[in-house]
Amino acid sequence: MLTEVIATRYVTPLREGGSLPGIVEADDLGTYVTKFVGAGQGRKTLVAEVVAGELARRLGLRVPVLVRVRLDPVIGLGEPDEEVQDLLKASGGLNLGMDYLPGSLGFDPLAFEVEPREAGRVVWFDGLVGNVDRSWRNPNMLLWHGDLWLIDHGATMIWHHNWPTADRSVTKPYDASDHALAPFTPDIASAREELAPKVTEELLREVVALVPDEWITDEPGFGGPEAVRAAYTRQLLARARAADAWRPSVPADYRRPEKPGVGNAPAWLKGRQSK
Ligand SMILES: Nc1ncnc2c1ncn2[C@@H]1O[C@H](COP(=O)(O)OP(=O)(O)O)[C@@H](O)[C@H]1O
Ligand SMILES: [Mg+2]
Repeated sequence: MLTEVIATRYVTPLREGGSLPGIVEADDLGTYVTKFVGAGQGRKTLVAEVVAGELARRLGLRVPVLVRVRLDPVIGLGEPDEEVQDLLKASGGLNLGMDYLPGSLGFDPLAFEVEPREAGRVVWFDGLVGNVDRSWRNPNMLLWHGDLWLIDHGATMIWHHNWPTADRSVTKPYDASDHALAPFTPDIASAREELAPKVTEELLREVVALVPDEWITDEPGFGGPEAVRAAYTRQLLARARAADAWRPSVPADYRRPEKPGVGNAPAWLKGRQSK
């Protein structure tokens, strides 16, 4: 099970995306970027964060620690912002927390260099889970202590919004031309060779077991949480086995932006680019 913490203080909303995640302090003295179960995007966003995030971690990619955040809506009573107060009121019970990385910077493809091997692993993983939310406009990656960290897997596995047609997505090609790491000549062939064999049924079961029952309990067409977990496992296993069919593609004539590299990085960061 993911570690469970109890929210003790709502600190501030993060207003970048649409889902209004917030920074929350917890009883373990940790600080977490929290995605709320009562947000308009619904519980599937949280399921996607757990399944894709924990799968990425097991494939050796850096993802901040995920926790279950138990929330008593009473902590929102003093919130001056009505939108936040409504969200907290609707989010009693379990929410998803991601360890807050203090001092991290949003990844900027024009300012930082990523090695082809690492870029390939990230792009291949995003192809596996069909991530549509890692474009250069919105990279959803952070730079922290000189390393690249992946965040925000809420927009992965979009097939889980329509289970009856999910089968059709198994071999769906992954267009990576818009991907934030497309400029770094991602070594997709090596990544596929290294990662595809690691996506075993056993590993997937371990990952989907981390999804709390209450987020998948009344999924239409399924008999209960175990049946839903089995469907995620089946789908991702089929996708991994079909890796040759959906190989992420970056157009052959893709042109790196002029002089990416260190040009735009602040002086104090030069020489500390992501490895
Ligand atoms: N673990 C983290 N540590 C530090 N900042 C974070 C972390 N997770 C998210 N953020 C910041 O919050 C913003 C919104 O988080 P994100 O998970 O992308 O949510 P969404 O895009 O769904 O609103 C990010 O773009 C980033 O600036
Ligand atoms: Mg985001």
